[in-house]
Amino acid sequence: MTRTVRAKAPAKVNLQLTVGPPSSDGYHPLVTVFQALDLWETVEATPRTDGEITLALEVPAGAPVDATRVPLDESNLAWKAAALLARTFGIDDGVDLRIVKGVPVAGGMAGGSADAAAALVACAEAWDAGATRAQLATLAARLGADVPFSLHGHTAVGLDRGDRLTPAMTHGEFHWVLATQSEGLSTPTVFAELDRRRAAREQATSDFEVDGALMRALMAGDAVALGQALTNDLEGPAMSLMPRLEAVLDACDAADACGAIVSGSGPTVAALARSRQHALAIAAHLKAAKVADAVVTASGPASGTVVVAD
Ligand code: C5P
Repeated sequence: MTRTVRAKAPAKVNLQLTVGPPSSDGYHPLVTVFQALDLWETVEATPRTDGEITLALEVPAGAPVDATRVPLDESNLAWKAAALLARTFGIDDGVDLRIVKGVPVAGGMAGGSADAAAALVACAEAWDAGATRAQLATLAARLGADVPFSLHGHTAVGLDRGDRLTPAMTHGEFHWVLATQSEGLSTPTVFAELDRRRAAREQATSDFEVDGALMRALMAGDAVALGQALTNDLEGPAMSLMPRLEAVLDACDAADACGAIVSGSGPTVAALARSRQHALAIAAHLKAAKVADAVVTASGPASGTVVVAD
């Protein structure tokens, strides 16, 4: 009997994103701290017997998402995830995939990676592939640097490409405000801009280690201390490619956020609040300042990718 399996995967912010010089494969080694947020990508998988993969997209009303920028062919990471899983486990069935988007596209919040993680979990279950979580994590790393964390969730230190994960201890909930732009930034372009800025001595290198003050703030559940400890080597490059991000960060400051940072390779700006109430106040301030195309609140840490019951 054909059944539809639905899985959801979280968005992420990087609380620390320290980038080393590129290695011979072009990738940059990272020391990063991820936190998963309760902003979800959902993927539904319905098996088909003809071996074909199809992809459809749904954008719920009010989601901060520009659907025109999502490819619906084999270049989509969810499609690649289904194809890789089928190849690896010798699955002859195909699948109809339906993505319900809740995470900004090309926003530095790993929305595409969340699609891949959710597709892996939904297809593994729908095809009854017998894949363990560890096997899915290995496939996730082949799909993209942020996919293993989408699967893992919570808060974690990521080394190498960000795919070698160690859980981080946290206390309580952290409240975030996310200011998104309708125009995206390409991750490789932002990394290349960092290399250019460093070669031109416009940006120094950072200490290549996990920030102790950040880890202590997480363990204490101290949003004020965490806000002060947020760092991202890609923030300068993202701002030089998109100068209007400076106004977003200034508006977060004016709204008395505990801290604010460009998320991953941007252009989403993530502001940390003291409480849910404070997050709503910051969001209202950012909306009134008209510095972003959409403003949403979220909290973390959220779970990793899970199957959702009907
Ligand atoms: O892994 P993902 O597909 O998300 O990466 C997209 C691109 O971003 C890579 O092809 C690479 O150019 C760049 N990147 C990098 N170093 C990383 C992660 C990504 O240079 N650690």
